[in-house]
Amino acid sequence: MTRALGIETSCDETSVAIVESPPDSDRLRVHCNLVATQFDLHAKFGGVVPEIASRAHLQKLDLLVREALEATDLLPEDLDVITVTCMPGLIGTLLVGVTAARTLAWSWGKPLLGVNHIHAHATSAAIELDAAPWPAVALVVSGGHTSLYHVRDWENISLIGATIDDAAGEAFDKVAAILELGYPGGPIVDRRAADGDPEAIAFPRSMLKGDSADFSFSGLKTAVLYEVHGRGKTSGGLEGITDQRIADVCASFSQAVIDVLVAKTLRAVERTGVDCVVVGGGVAANSVLRRDLAAACANEGIQLHLTPMRYCTDNAAMIASHGVRLFERGHRSDLSLGASANVRD
Ligand code: KG4
Ligand code: ZN
Repeated sequence: MTRALGIETSCDETSVAIVESPPDSDRLRVHCNLVATQFDLHAKFGGVVPEIASRAHLQKLDLLVREALEATDLLPEDLDVITVTCMPGLIGTLLVGVTAARTLAWSWGKPLLGVNHIHAHATSAAIELDAAPWPAVALVVSGGHTSLYHVRDWENISLIGATIDDAAGEAFDKVAAILELGYPGGPIVDRRAADGDPEAIAFPRSMLKGDSADFSFSGLKTAVLYEVHGRGKTSGGLEGITDQRIADVCASFSQAVIDVLVAKTLRAVERTGVDCVVVGGGVAANSVLRRDLAAACANEGIQLHLTPMRYCTDNAAMIASHGVRLFERGHRSDLSLGASANVRD
């Protein structure tokens, strides 16, 4: 049995989890997954302010670690490893988590393991499965990333394609900003799209050249901007735009994003020869993506595992889950572990 503490501070959620890999089962057990969101702190700025995020992590992290131990009735000596997101993300917020994890590992005398946040999103669909679904194609769709991976197993994950400009979640957030719907935009656009017509506006579906596995969403974002303000205009009020029109823009935009995500995921399945798709990241909570990918996979005889909603947006359960599997396979970080804002794979 291996038990991991997980710490996640890569963006605007402070999260601490305890996950166990039981000796008698392949299914992980999430003892607790505490998430303190910072939405309120950043909402008035329309996006995450890194310095504010770092300070909020600093204020919350200690308390959450204590709360996680209390909630599970566990002591530091009951833990086998301290896992922490070390890349990619906001460098300042990552450093808060990594420094805390290094300190806990040193003072409790426990091993430390840095985890790649995107790899954790890529494997988050497996957290509550009875058996690992690998090999699979993983679609990771979040506020910072839109990538396809070939996951051969927990430690063997290679990049197939990624966005060359905006991430899918970022496009959702920007469209919400254009329509003055609030922040974070993805869930709001998703809700408003339910009342709209996905065929009302023929937004572009950028597939890029040939059989490219990469994504591009910046042209679509500009198309939404022109649709709302008029061709060539990048700003202006929303006077005269009805609620129904806003719902139609949300629905047509969402459908354009999801059509591309589904088509490229199927293309990656064909290219890798696997018969399973897993999906993670904040945008994996999107209702149109969940519906359309389920239909497309059923149609092609491909198995689909969608990450449970509570593990779609940033959380430490996915960090501890991915971390515990790597730890069992011999991975360790030393106490000089650093953080990195970027990573291409
Ligand atoms: O994975 P995540 O919490 O953070 C990053 O690692 O980036 O993803 C957050 C992103 C935001 O852009 C948010 O607008 C988007 O996920 N999101 C959604 C939905 N729920 C969250 N986008 C579309 N539909 C949703 N239901
Ligand atoms: Zn994330």
